[in-house]
Amino acid sequence: MELITRLKQHLQGLEERSLIRRRRTVETPCAPRLTVDGREMLAFCSNDYLGLAAHPAIIKALQEGADLYGAGSGASHLISGHSRAHAQLEERLASFVGSNLEHARALYFCTGYMANLAVLTGLAAGDADTEIFSEALNHASLIDGTRLSRVKTRVYPHADLAALAALLAESKAKTRIVVTDSVFSMDGDLAPLPALLALCEQYGAWLVVDDAHGFGALGEHGRGALEHFELHSPYLVYVGTLGKSAGVGGAFVAAHEAVIETLIQKARPYIFTTAAPPALAHALLASVDIIAGEEGAQRRAHLAALVAQWNEGLQLQRWQALPSQTAIQPVIIGENAEMMGIAASLYQQGLWVGAIRPPTVPLGTARLRVTLSAGHTAQEVAQLINAVNTLERTRHEP
Ligand SMILES: Cc1ncc(COP(=O)(O)O)c(C=O)c1O
Repeated sequence: MELITRLKQHLQGLEERSLIRRRRTVETPCAPRLTVDGREMLAFCSNDYLGLAAHPAIIKALQEGADLYGAGSGASHLISGHSRAHAQLEERLASFVGSNLEHARALYFCTGYMANLAVLTGLAAGDADTEIFSEALNHASLIDGTRLSRVKTRVYPHADLAALAALLAESKAKTRIVVTDSVFSMDGDLAPLPALLALCEQYGAWLVVDDAHGFGALGEHGRGALEHFELHSPYLVYVGTLGKSAGVGGAFVAAHEAVIETLIQKARPYIFTTAAPPALAHALLASVDIIAGEEGAQRRAHLAALVAQWNEGLQLQRWQALPSQTAIQPVIIGENAEMMGIAASLYQQGLWVGAIRPPTVPLGTARLRVTLSAGHTAQEVAQLINAVNTLERTRHEP
């Protein structure tokens, strides 16, 4: 059939450009040491930055949640799927991150992808008086959110405050929305949030912060990027994800109660989908307790020590390690095939790192995306440092 042939040709093209993606099957819980396709590996590719994904207290809470609320929610939040566990989690999250916001409420979503679509379409849907200002390295879910919102969108270059200020100054829109990742997911650097917020306050714009990689990991108490930078403003709309540092799944938006009520009334990715299983929300209550408590602080301190160890230990001449103080530590290789060869070499040594290619990152910047976790030991990180340093010295240029 011609349609099938066309698909096959497209897939063949991806294969030829080293762009085909394959899934590996993990047979054990998410942790640094796991079994992948029958083989024991040491992994540096999850976003489980605090090592909570298989934490006994969270697993126990998940089981307890299933006993209390069953397996599924049965309906969307606005019909009958909104359970006590969801409500409790939203209240807990609102009080946790609320000190950086004003009149804060929180809204729980099935995924961060959906939360980002919801914020942008909910705040901006098709409105001629609205304009979005989107950072060039934003996550795909924010890019898709701007597309779905159907409003004029201006993309400003990465971390370029002067360019953003010029765009804001020339905008006539009544509602302006600046949207940015806090920790850039493929680069690991932090957005200049204090300066961005100052601009937003100057121009009366919302600042939507996607803190997918900051919530739980940044800030003294794990409250994320807003705590890290000590930001406080009614203009902030905060998105935190719960499948990374929190170790479970889902996401939340925290913002002024008027924003949250608008999302409940208008945001299609919130309204037209079955609520996540309440047991997940119940498990997340345990996860937030860990993040906010002494154990969370210890895990963040250990993670910070591993990040410092990585930055000190890596000695590269040809490959480029991006400057990053977060758990995301990219090493740019350049060409897809070369990067895939390097990732395969590490894999043969039992080391599994993320291998990131376009279109996730710009053409010619294929990279290893090493992610560190509080679950790693210093010895494990030393093993990867040694393997990467050695491989760079011994591998011939293609
Ligand atoms: C910056 C950023 N935002 C949003 C998301 C989406 O979150 P989720 O995986 O919960 O859909 C991700 C990653 O998945 C991300 O890296």
